[in-house]
Amino acid sequence: MTDLVQLSRDNDVAIITIDNPPVNALGPGVPEGISKALDRIAQDSSFKAAVLIGGGRTFVAGADIKELGKMARGKSEVTTLEPLLLQIEDSRTPVIVAIHGAAFGGGLELAMAAPYRVALAIAKVGQPEVKLGLIPGAAGTQRLPRLAGIAIAVEMCAAGNPISAEQSLKFGIIDRIVDGASQSDLLAGAIAFAREVAGKPAPRTRERNDKLGNAGDHEAIFAAAREAAAKKQRGQRAPLAAISAVEAATKMSFTEGCEFERRLFLECLFSEQCKALIHIFFSEREAAKIPDIPRETPLLPIHLAAVVGAGTMGGGIAMALANAGIPVLLKETEQSPLDRGLATIRLNYETSVKHGRFTQQFVDQRLALISPTLTYDDFAKVDLVIEAVFENMQLKKEVFRQLDAVCKPGAILATNTSTLNIDEIASAVARPDAVAGTHFFTPPNVTRLLEVVRGKESSRQVIATCMQLAGKLGKVGVLVGNCTGFVANRMFIPYHQQVQFLLEEGASVEAVDRTLTDFGMGLGPVATMDMVGLDVAWRIRQEHKHLHPAGTRQPFAEDRLCELGRYGRKTNAGWYRYDEQRRAVPDPEVAEMVRKWAAEQGVVQRSTSTQEILDRCLWAFVNEGARILEEGYALRVSDIDTIFVNGYGFPAWRGGPMWYADTVGLKNVYDRVSEFHSDFGELWRPAPLLKQLAEQGRGFYESK
Ligand code: NAI
Repeated sequence: MTDLVQLSRDNDVAIITIDNPPVNALGPGVPEGISKALDRIAQDSSFKAAVLIGGGRTFVAGADIKELGKMARGKSEVTTLEPLLLQIEDSRTPVIVAIHGAAFGGGLELAMAAPYRVALAIAKVGQPEVKLGLIPGAAGTQRLPRLAGIAIAVEMCAAGNPISAEQSLKFGIIDRIVDGASQSDLLAGAIAFAREVAGKPAPRTRERNDKLGNAGDHEAIFAAAREAAAKKQRGQRAPLAAISAVEAATKMSFTEGCEFERRLFLECLFSEQCKALIHIFFSEREAAKIPDIPRETPLLPIHLAAVVGAGTMGGGIAMALANAGIPVLLKETEQSPLDRGLATIRLNYETSVKHGRFTQQFVDQRLALISPTLTYDDFAKVDLVIEAVFENMQLKKEVFRQLDAVCKPGAILATNTSTLNIDEIASAVARPDAVAGTHFFTPPNVTRLLEVVRGKESSRQVIATCMQLAGKLGKVGVLVGNCTGFVANRMFIPYHQQVQFLLEEGASVEAVDRTLTDFGMGLGPVATMDMVGLDVAWRIRQEHKHLHPAGTRQPFAEDRLCELGRYGRKTNAGWYRYDEQRRAVPDPEVAEMVRKWAAEQGVVQRSTSTQEILDRCLWAFVNEGARILEEGYALRVSDIDTIFVNGYGFPAWRGGPMWYADTVGLKNVYDRVSEFHSDFGELWRPAPLLKQLAEQGRGFYESK
């Protein structure tokens, strides 16, 4: 044994405890420790059974992802759990695995090798490897179908979502739910269970073939799984590999199936997708670290919040706060926008209940936490205000002056502005240190990103509290500097500009959206704009007119659509038209209008290749990302990738835009940007950092 695994006893039952905080990951030393404990148990005939349990707050939450990363980059040897699993499965002393917290990935594979599993009701199990571009690599795809049947195994391995203890019991993954909520309750229940089964013939999972079903049923299950993966996990290899590996369990012996799984596992492990996903995993964690704000910085408690403006964003932000259990005042100027805002909130919640995301009871509790108001009367009590009124500097300053007058000292005054200068907004109050940006992304109750914008005078406490708020709301918080558009929108603006130019040059909305969704973006850029509201960018363009460099080309068609009242989804018409089911339908009238406007403006329409669409879109924001990095508005390059993946649906399996540019090669990117610079003019001037790195043959990431 090692320090990471302890062996103790309760009379005739051995207790193996994994003690590798915080999540008992199966890092170096843990499998060896379990194996040694089993050796000792095998030599002691007084043991009738053995319980394998996690110390601390969980069973085994999975592999050590740092180790996986090293293996993926060829920096350390690829290990396998399989010998240990066979040792557990063949142990003459039956092993009962006791699960609290989570049994994920290698944790569940470990548990499935034992003849029995018990769990607390609040425990969860799953094979989430696909989320890191992998598949189970220690026979998970072979043992899970033998316990739960093919359909459940395919779903769990390909989608990667965890399931509850109750579901695991129903599916046959565990054998009993133990009463209680603590690790000691679990241990007591597991020991009792162990005494019941001791001496009885223990089933070997690998020999249980009764749930594998017959070939006739399988075809439909695998076809449906492949279809779902192609739709929901477009472009990703791991889900398809996971499906094939489970399929192998229906066609091959256990041993052959394991070999097949291993081959696919290794292919996935050494793939670019796996490296990219592991990079994003660590980037999200890194984003929480702020060099000059220590972890111990005292936080401001948030018991009550307020949101000003109940529009697209304000309503969603109020929902995000309520969903996290924070009561919130929602203020509007007049009854009718307030009613509209509340109706949208109710409709969104109803949809969530319909889709099974929330229960009615949860929704009722959340709605009760949102208090609509037309006055600032109760604002003296709030700890945090998030302003989400129209994107207009004068209006925002006015709102902040009012907040300054009514809010108590110590309250955080945050703005959801997407592009305006935080310092200028802060100049409207006598306490600029209380001001920061909390920039949510639409829809704010769903999208995972929260950009926290640091103003010149924002206090460390305010920034630390806003970053922590992101976590409370289930979001990834990323700290950014105060430049126009911060990081996400500053990069989105040139991208959006290229999209408009392409449309004005005759590319169809479908062609542009399809090119980007085929690349892996969650939503095409044109559909994204319609969802955000074309009027939002229109207002921004008006607000920032003075910033347009003289002589640079400016888009015109989207402004014209706005002038016609086509704001996108909210008016049932934008670039697309929206049918009764609110589905986007290409609108030939728009194509015709754009043709006419282009002719008036002297823009020549022509056919554009998919490659040109892709390059103009991607390199527009990578070029801007390079400037942001160089100017220090992002703390580190990985923050930019985290932002684009979580805020704008950039495919995580491509590692974010900056990582992706590195994989293409910055020299290639630079050459293309230079070509566009000479074809299309000043907007494409290569960022100095991009030029420098390309010339030096380097990437944004030194160590990649
Ligand atoms: P919206 O037009 O949907 O809503 C603004 C709401 O503010 C309206 O309901 C209006 O009645 C209300 N309002 C105006 N003055 C007010 C006052 N003095 N007191 C209380 N309420 C007042 O606008 P949206 O899209 O929600 O944008 C709000 C802010 O969020 C803007 O700063 C925008 O740039 C930013 N933002 C918008 C995003 C989007 O995708 N729509 C994304 C991220 C930020």
